[in-house]
Amino acid sequence: MAHIGKSIEKAAELLNNDELVAIPTETVYGLAGNGLKQETIQKIYQVKNRPATNPLILHVSTPDRLYDLAENVPEEALALASKFWPGPLTLVLPKKSHVPDIATGGLNTVAVRIPAHDLTLQLLSLLSFPLAAPSANLSNQVSPTSPEHVQSQIGDQIKYILDGGRCSKGIESTIVGFIGKTPVILRHGALSIDRIKRVAANVVTREENGDILAPGMHSKHYSPVTRFIVAQDIAPFLTDFKGLNIGVLTFMPDNGKRIGEGIFKTSLTACGDLLEAAYNLYDKMYQLDKMGFDVIIAEYVPNEGIGISINDRLRRASNK
Ligand code: TXA
Ligand code: MG
Repeated sequence: MAHIGKSIEKAAELLNNDELVAIPTETVYGLAGNGLKQETIQKIYQVKNRPATNPLILHVSTPDRLYDLAENVPEEALALASKFWPGPLTLVLPKKSHVPDIATGGLNTVAVRIPAHDLTLQLLSLLSFPLAAPSANLSNQVSPTSPEHVQSQIGDQIKYILDGGRCSKGIESTIVGFIGKTPVILRHGALSIDRIKRVAANVVTREENGDILAPGMHSKHYSPVTRFIVAQDIAPFLTDFKGLNIGVLTFMPDNGKRIGEGIFKTSLTACGDLLEAAYNLYDKMYQLDKMGFDVIIAEYVPNEGIGISINDRLRRASNK
């Protein structure tokens, strides 16, 4: 099992020795290693059992570091970075040649972000290299938002989990690439498209302009081990699965009337706040997954603001 602790010095020492360390961010925990060293990055793919074609995000602590890794940075990218960094925004830009191909899945672009978490920012400032860090879960499974989640997934494969408490946002960063000057959302995430629009009014989604590569965005992802179903109206599923051991995940607690006797129910929010729903999403999925249900039935949340990103995760979690 990994040691869970708060020592950035210990984390830095391990990372300087080419070991992997799980690090907290405001979105989810990352499985971090030296992002400029091929052998270390190789270990990240091995621990996660991740396909080599699914590129990683490089984490840095100050905006000027972007220019060590990327080139031809459009003004629109700078505007977004200066507004939202540190924060849950990842920028995909043309890569500098020294960035190892293994970090970018062989692409000529690199993904970069500054996470908004004090411990990890301090850690990054002690290091002379960026940290490659995918979410610290096994490939395709639920992303971790607490040290305990990391421990349960990959604790037997790493030495140290830097304990930064629960992640404040709870779902991954929003990923933005560029076609010329046009920002394209490659992955919906903790920064809502509405907020991006206020800085870059010309932003489009990949559904609107698919002329950009988005590897790693599989239809199945973020999945609990237990069978997982998501629906607008969960009532018919409760009838269909009558007699089975069912866990139910609702948006708000107050729709208990539709849910029968003996069915375990928990909710993402106390009174319908979408930020709270994002904060709780993966934690609830971990909890339900541990309870041994035959099936988990979840309800979509309102499809607005960050709810678009939550619904994206629920949909992928339910795909086979
Ligand atoms: O919030 C987050 O972004 C977290 C924390 C740890 O920072 N990290 C995270 O990493 O979610 P990961 O590896 O689970 O997802 C990164 C995704 C890849 O699956 C891929 O879809 C996209 O980022 N990506 C990375 N590099 C890319 C590139 N050059 N072009 C297009 N997409 C890229
Ligand atoms: Mg991930």
